[in-house]
Amino acid sequence: MMATDVVNVKEFQVLAKQKLPKMVYGFYASGAEDEWTLEENERAYQTIRIWPRILLDVSNVDLSTRVLGFDITMPVMIAPTSMHKMAHPDGELATAQAAAAAGTVMVLSTGATSSIEEVAQLNSGIRFFQLYIFNKTNAIQLVQRAEKSGYKAIVLTVDTPRLGHREADKKNRFALPPHLSLKNLIDVVPSQEQQEQIKGSKFETLIACMDQELSWKDVKWLQTVTKLPVLIKGVLTVEATEQALQASVAGIIVSNHGGRQLDHVPATISVLEEIVVAARGRIPVFLDGGIRRGTDIFKALALGASGVFVGRPILFALAIDGETGVKKALQILHDELELTMALAGCCKISDIKRSHVRTLRDRNR
Ligand code: FNR
Repeated sequence: MMATDVVNVKEFQVLAKQKLPKMVYGFYASGAEDEWTLEENERAYQTIRIWPRILLDVSNVDLSTRVLGFDITMPVMIAPTSMHKMAHPDGELATAQAAAAAGTVMVLSTGATSSIEEVAQLNSGIRFFQLYIFNKTNAIQLVQRAEKSGYKAIVLTVDTPRLGHREADKKNRFALPPHLSLKNLIDVVPSQEQQEQIKGSKFETLIACMDQELSWKDVKWLQTVTKLPVLIKGVLTVEATEQALQASVAGIIVSNHGGRQLDHVPATISVLEEIVVAARGRIPVFLDGGIRRGTDIFKALALGASGVFVGRPILFALAIDGETGVKKALQILHDELELTMALAGCCKISDIKRSHVRTLRDRNR
């Protein structure tokens, strides 16, 4: 198979497995421990059925939507993933060009191999910055850099006080290739030792420098040091949703980090609805994890998501064909969602209702 023959985003992974060094592919593809959650994230979509409406005029299907007040072309955005330059020499720059061309949001990772500023200089695309908090000084610096560079929101990832146990990385002795560096951390993490870890191999040790004491009061604190809206990424429970509401965050992302952190937590799509109910329409609820098809996106929207983020398919598309590859992945997801909507009788995103899907729970009632 060649890049030009790709007809769905899953095929990028097949090609990337052939092309990338084992260590890089392993880092991108793998999950924690038995990878139950990694697999469940995709499998859980298969338990949800779509209930189409017929004989409605679907000659015009409009995917455009609004996220945090920003107009985007479709409710599909790019999740923050680290180290894009291991996939392709253009790294995050290519991903950001593709996102802007597609008219959607890219979230730049704290663990990017391109700097906040380099990515910002490219174009006027809508970008969010994903924050890992190592310490408060570092967090303030990163947030200020993101603000100054025109990023529109901060995505605070809260499911990573320590790194999940990824056995592929252990087996492959995962290390960032020496010609690359985590550019956003290089001058802000203070100690000599931490500097060495960022430059060199020890991603795991670097993450161990993360603030493990991070708590809800720090979420409040973060909102006092930035004007940008703060989204919390890594919510899986009703309880956390209620706490997020209390902390007045701008939104939440239902995420299990693509099955890379705690194994055996539920698939994101299976907890989405109870979280949407708990959010009571007061803040938008987004989702990531296992999105590989337009029908997956449709199901998430029907269950109340305001939009979804895609992780691995973007990395694999980047590995295969750089900016062109990422554009193609986004186009495929766009076209699949458009077709799903037409066949289900939905002309616009707000036409997608809860009654368009039935979950296992509905069927057991
Ligand atoms: C991630 N993810 C992630 N999340 C985050 O908040 N900061 C980060 O730096 C990273 N890095 C990262 C690297 C790689 C290789 C992967 C695969 C994932 C998690 C990511 O944002 C998202 O939650 C998942 O990737 C979504 O699942 P799918 O779409 O990959 O199934």
